[in-house]
Amino acid sequence: MQASTSKAVAHNAPLPPSQASAGRSSRIAPHSHIKGLGLDAEGLASTDGAGFIGQDNAREACGVVVDLIKSRKFSGRALLLAGAPGTGKTALALAISQELGAKVPFCPMVGSEVYSTEVKKTEVLAEAFRRAIGLRIKETKEVYEGEVTELTPTESENPLSGYGKTIAHVVVGLKTVKGTKQLRLDPTIYEAILKEKIVVGDVIYIEANTGAVKRVGRSDAYASSYDLESETYVPLPKGDVHKRKELVQDVTLGDLDAANARPQGGQDIMSVMGSLMKSGRTEVTEKLRREVNKVVKGYVDQGVAEVIPGVVFIDEVHMLDIECFTYLNALLESPMAPTVVFATNRGHSLVRGTTDIVAPHGIPVDLLDRCLIVKTEGYTREQVARVVQVRAAVEGLKLGEGVLDRLAEEGERSSLRYALQLLAPASILATLAGRGQIEAEDIGEMGELFLDAKTSAGMINS
Ligand SMILES: Nc1ncnc2c1ncn2[C@@H]1O[C@H](COP(=O)(O)OP(=O)(O)OP(=O)(O)O)[C@@H](O)[C@H]1O
Ligand SMILES: [Mg+2]
Repeated sequence: MQASTSKAVAHNAPLPPSQASAGRSSRIAPHSHIKGLGLDAEGLASTDGAGFIGQDNAREACGVVVDLIKSRKFSGRALLLAGAPGTGKTALALAISQELGAKVPFCPMVGSEVYSTEVKKTEVLAEAFRRAIGLRIKETKEVYEGEVTELTPTESENPLSGYGKTIAHVVVGLKTVKGTKQLRLDPTIYEAILKEKIVVGDVIYIEANTGAVKRVGRSDAYASSYDLESETYVPLPKGDVHKRKELVQDVTLGDLDAANARPQGGQDIMSVMGSLMKSGRTEVTEKLRREVNKVVKGYVDQGVAEVIPGVVFIDEVHMLDIECFTYLNALLESPMAPTVVFATNRGHSLVRGTTDIVAPHGIPVDLLDRCLIVKTEGYTREQVARVVQVRAAVEGLKLGEGVLDRLAEEGERSSLRYALQLLAPASILATLAGRGQIEAEDIGEMGELFLDAKTSAGMINS
């Protein structure tokens, strides 16, 4: 819910920038400089956009795939990102998800996630696929919406027993920018109003057909000046009190499965405990999925819902075994399949779970045959330098003269990752020496303290 901006300081306003950035700078993820694929209007990667440096072919190929996914022409197919370690495969997959936007479900996982002692491997894959299929449910409903100005229950003698009173009806006044309306409502709706803890000053809507009551938030006329508050403030609704309102809900098939496998109880403390205990991963049966599919299909046929196929990203796909691969073939061919993106850094290797099948990338040829393959290239010295520069800016580090060259040299000799990894420790050395920026000598000292992967492997072999 969006809070109103009419007040000088909103109750949930973000912290002042100085505090916020100080808190965040210590927790920067390895890919936080990647903001997208950085392609121009023609889909060309001519410039270093969105934090992505070089890797032009791979970026353009991913751009084509993004277009295909957006135009719904890539469902049930797979993209394989293959290349040496540290060449930006994971970064490319994240960029794809950013290009698709938040509306398209993106479900990332790592190959080794399938090895659980509780859940079958195939079940983990099936669930990931279900979580990557979105459903947008759009309903236009007749509602009464407004700020509650009056809430008076009218009591009457209970006709059944001589004692006590019952609620005969309830009068609710609703106000919008345009006008007000007084409604006389059924006692069952009064129960719903009590359950939602609605008081005068709340903005609510009541569905005309079902009588379901929903509290949207508190009217911002009542906004207080507390610093901390759990309330959401909403502006006074526009238009008439009685109107047709489009209600949009985004869920995934995975959400529907889970909700139906575990029907919720009430709101009391016992049911909270119950749901905590049951939240250990229980299996959603194939039968339940079929039932959910049937209902979803009904919605789609009526035009109430729209299916949005999303993306499953399986990193380190060579960690899957032969059972998973055959199951993936089947999943890819099912009628409601999302797009699949794999990433691997293996060349020829043994397919897990077999003793004699050696296949390219450790992926059986029948699955490989269903993939579009995009290769990531190694980086040149100057590309390493540019990535290091972008990273240093994101991490808020200053680099002295010649440092970039030194790091680029290290990166070319060893790997891009090694060069990036040197940044943080070097900044510590610089601070210890009482300097605000990293100098070339810090990098030199790094070389004495730490080994890169290649040197380390060479020492062990000799
Ligand atoms: N072209 C690029 N532009 C900017 N940053 C990059 C680029 N390529 C890689 N990086 C950064 O380098 C680091 C290593 O890349 P990444 O983790 O994507 O490699 P990978 O191909 O997934 O490696 P692995 O096979 O070991 O999983 C990350 O921090 C990533 O954001
Ligand atoms: Mg990776």
